[in-house]
Amino acid sequence: MIQKLALLGGKPLRTRPFNSWPIHNKSEERSLLRTLRSGNWGRLQGQEVANFEKRFAAAHGCEHGIAVVNGTVSLRIGLLAAGIQAEDEVIVPPYTFLSTASAVIESNAVPVFADIDLHTFNLDPKAVEAAITPRTKAIIPVHFAGQPADMDGIMAIGKKHNLLVIEDAAHAHGASYQDRPAGSIGHLGSFSFQSSKNMTAGEGGIITTNDETLAEACRSIQSCGRIPSGPWYEHHVISGNYRLGEFQGAILSCQLDRLEDQTKRRDRNGQYLAAKLSRFPGIFPQQRPSDCTRHSYHLMMLRVEAEHFGVSRDTLVEALCAERIPCSAGYAYSLPQQPIFENKAFGPYIPKATARLKFNKVRCPNSDLICKEQCVWLGQNIFLGQRKDMDDIADAFEKIYEQRQTLNAKFPSNP
Ligand SMILES: Cc1ncc(COP(=O)(O)O)c(C=O)c1O
Repeated sequence: MIQKLALLGGKPLRTRPFNSWPIHNKSEERSLLRTLRSGNWGRLQGQEVANFEKRFAAAHGCEHGIAVVNGTVSLRIGLLAAGIQAEDEVIVPPYTFLSTASAVIESNAVPVFADIDLHTFNLDPKAVEAAITPRTKAIIPVHFAGQPADMDGIMAIGKKHNLLVIEDAAHAHGASYQDRPAGSIGHLGSFSFQSSKNMTAGEGGIITTNDETLAEACRSIQSCGRIPSGPWYEHHVISGNYRLGEFQGAILSCQLDRLEDQTKRRDRNGQYLAAKLSRFPGIFPQQRPSDCTRHSYHLMMLRVEAEHFGVSRDTLVEALCAERIPCSAGYAYSLPQQPIFENKAFGPYIPKATARLKFNKVRCPNSDLICKEQCVWLGQNIFLGQRKDMDDIADAFEKIYEQRQTLNAKFPSNP
């Protein structure tokens, strides 16, 4: 018998909550108490952050890790360490969190948007190549949702034009590309430990690299422009205090202990669900190239083609939430359409470029389309569950698909 849709007054398909986040246990409690009692609460006194940096970097194929207060300043520190100058151009995707582009502006450089691929949702190397000008100095590919960007394509463009490549790996802890860890492929990698991320200490970030000179420059900028052997009150470059505290370092070490198992589980569940959902007409989970050897599933992203699925994206999201499948439509619009870009509200930064830039003329049709009418996100905590949890999600899609006509009668905006 067909169960009435929860959106139309029926019982929700899902009765139990999904895995909660963050996950912690006695090990975090012990580490936090140890740090508390040590009296060494700042990274200059203790060893928690220093140990975590080494372990995180090694787990991501890098010699150096520089922990900082969040995954926005990690991008900015990377750009400054690499010598980005005022009004230089940095290519970024339009489909990402604000920070990927705002970190560029806060480095006094100009973000240039290159569209994403409609199927992988990651930066399209062809669009990157087309966006290059004599002012271009860097590219920031984002491993969106936890699936590595086309790094072969992007590194080849970087090499050809002598550009710095910073991987924005804020979603990609433990992900890999051709078996190489995210964060170890470009010149620098940048991760976030903000609350929603696959590893968290509430806030935090880290820069990863195998380049000793860049690592030294990042380390200096992270701590008020000091140099390792220099006197305490001696400052060499413009900077601030971006050091991570010892309590966060202590938590992150425990989170790192679980990362491998958790990433394997998220990837296994994510692939299983993606295969099930792709059987529905008009549902297209993020296409996974064979170069993606591990997806960290910070998000499961999919596209809905309403004309084939029979229900619009917005109604699908509403109907799934009513069935107690937590999901969202993600970004409502591409970054160039954010008020900050439309109004060029850049404060004192990039004054020369601001006069000539016209973000309202920027066209990124793939990003615009998925924002406006196609994208659905499911969060990483869901993928820490069991196969049965994935089956429930697929069953909710089925329930909605089977009753698409009834839904359309109630929601006339549907196709
Ligand atoms: C793609 C991306 N880059 C950078 C960041 C910035 O990280 P944080 O919030 O730690 O500053 C985020 C955070 O959501 C993000 O999603």
